[in-house]
Formats: sequence, C-alpha cells, structure tokens
Amino acid sequence: MKKIALGILVSGRGSNLQSIIDNIESGQLDAQIACVISDVENAMALERAKKHKLEALFIDPKDKEKEDYYAEIAKELKKREVGLVVLAGFMRVVPESFISQFENKIINIHPSLLPEFSGLKAQQQALDAGAKETGSTVHFVTPAVDGGPIILQQPVEIWEDDNEETLSARILEQEHRLLPKAIQLTAENRILIQGKRVLINWKDFEDKWK
Ligand code: GRF
Repeated sequence: MKKIALGILVSGRGSNLQSIIDNIESGQLDAQIACVISDVENAMALERAKKHKLEALFIDPKDKEKEDYYAEIAKELKKREVGLVVLAGFMRVVPESFISQFENKIINIHPSLLPEFSGLKAQQQALDAGAKETGSTVHFVTPAVDGGPIILQQPVEIWEDDNEETLSARILEQEHRLLPKAIQLTAENRILIQGKRVLINWKDFEDKWK
C-alpha cells in the first residue's frame, strides 16, 4: 500500500516534527514526509528537516496577501500529492480558502484539552485559571480556530510548583506521542467524522502501537 504523504507546516523549534521523523524512522509510523514548510526562515524545524534529508521550504509571508500566501503553500502541497497536512507548531491561523482545499485533511496539535484554553499561551491560561489538569489535543482544522473535531486527547496533571516552562515540557512529552498516533490512525483510515465527533476504529490498533 502506498504510504500517506505528509505536508508538515512549522514555525519554530520543531520538536513535534522531530517526533514524526523519529516514529517514521523507527518503523512505528507508516507515512512519508513529502515536505516541511515554514513561515519563518531560521526555524529550527527546517534544520531538523534538512538533517534528515527532507525537503524543507521556507515560504516567506512578507508583503503577501493572506490568500496569495496560502495559495502558494497549497500549490507546493498539491504538487507533492500530500494526503495529510499536519500543523506542527505552525503559528498562524489558516484561512477558510486553504482549509476547503484540504477538507478533513488538516490536523493540528494544541497544548490543552480543547475546548478549554484555546488560542495562544494555552499552558499559561491553564495555570492562570488554577486548573488541576490540562493536556494535549490533536484535532481536525476547521475555520473555527482550535474548534475542529477532536481526534485524540491526553490529560496532564498540573502540579502546585509548576510554571509555564515545566508544565509545557510535560505537555510536550505527551504531544510527541499523541501526534504520530493520530497520524497513524488517519493513515490507516480508521477515522470517521460525524459532525463534531470523531469515531475511531481501534480494532487491533493498540496492540501494535507501542
Ligand atoms: C507545541 O506546544 C504545539 O502544541 C503548539 O506549538 C508547539 C510547537 O512546538 N501548537 P514544536 O515546534 O513542535 O517544538
């Protein structure tokens, strides 16, 4: 069977990209990375991609209309027949015109248990709210920011001595497991979207997903 081609959009550090790469290289995740696209020229994520001989593109948003910018990204993704677009720390809100071209084929990872603490600085939001628990969510991207159907979630306990940094680090650990898992579920066509709900066919999945 042909492996699903991933187009990964990034803006920064790229630790989630790294977890995808590592899971592919270890044979756990059955996918291939068609390209990594960054809106930030010196993003560490691009360096990680190059190190693994992946196609790494910087597409400059400067002086471009939003629609034109995303048309450029879409063109690169389509050229490579990308079957799933993964927003892995891509720090922009993608427009409807882009989303409609990849309907139910864009996923995002967010550092909270959505719908709680959507938007920026989700970890600090959880601390400020005095929550005892937050976590990580992988969801489909729809025009509602951080509001698309939820694929997987993993709770993370908030400790009394946590600050934004320590909490983010523990959430990140979970993100690195959750995102490749969600990609594998998608690759194996185990996901059915019903309105806001995502139904997953788990049959024989957990046994092989370590
Ligand atoms: C992660 O916390 C992710 O949830 C959020 O941005 C961060 C990206 O981290 N969307 P990295 O670039 O993958 O290390």
